[in-house]
Amino acid sequence: MKKPRSSTLALIVASGIATAAITGNLLAHGNVLPQPVDTTALPAIGDAWLTKNPFRADPKVYAAAQKIGESAYGQNCARCHGLEAISGGIAPDLRYLDAGEAGDEWFMDRFQHGAARDGKVYMPPMGDILGQKAGWAIRSWLDSKHQE
Ligand code: HEC
Repeated sequence: MKKPRSSTLALIVASGIATAAITGNLLAHGNVLPQPVDTTALPAIGDAWLTKNPFRADPKVYAAAQKIGESAYGQNCARCHGLEAISGGIAPDLRYLDAGEAGDEWFMDRFQHGAARDGKVYMPPMGDILGQKAGWAIRSWLDSKHQE
């Protein structure tokens, strides 16, 4: 009677460790998955992908977009493009993107589709997961970080 009990205990302990290891793994990967962005405070902009930032024209909307964009950037882009948009070198420094409408389309193209070459993903696509409102919110915040 004593033996089976201790081996059962050993099994429980072992499966506990395995569960902890798996959970730890999932959590680690969880940080890498795109984090949803709440954009309900921003006006609807339709489903068709735009090539110019629709939030820039109205100062109130633009300010709201920048606030949402700052946190969306921190959760989804900073790990590669750097905190405060200052790149540590593993991905381009987004402060130097063309400012205003001249840089909007290129920004959105990358946000939506990411970047891959020779079957290697350099940047994961974000468009379908985060939606274009989140993309334009990030773009709005990046405007405030722009450098020539
Ligand atoms: C896994 C790392 C990673 C994440 C996360 C990431 N990017 Fe990128 N991004 C890259 C890399 C690497 C490139 C350069 C791709 C290339 O060499 O073609 C890039 C390129 C870009 C470019 C083009 C830059 C240029 O100078 O041409 C934009 C714009 C961009 N990313 C925006 C974003 C935004 C916005 C987010 C968050 C929603 C984001 N990226 C998240 C790695 C990442």
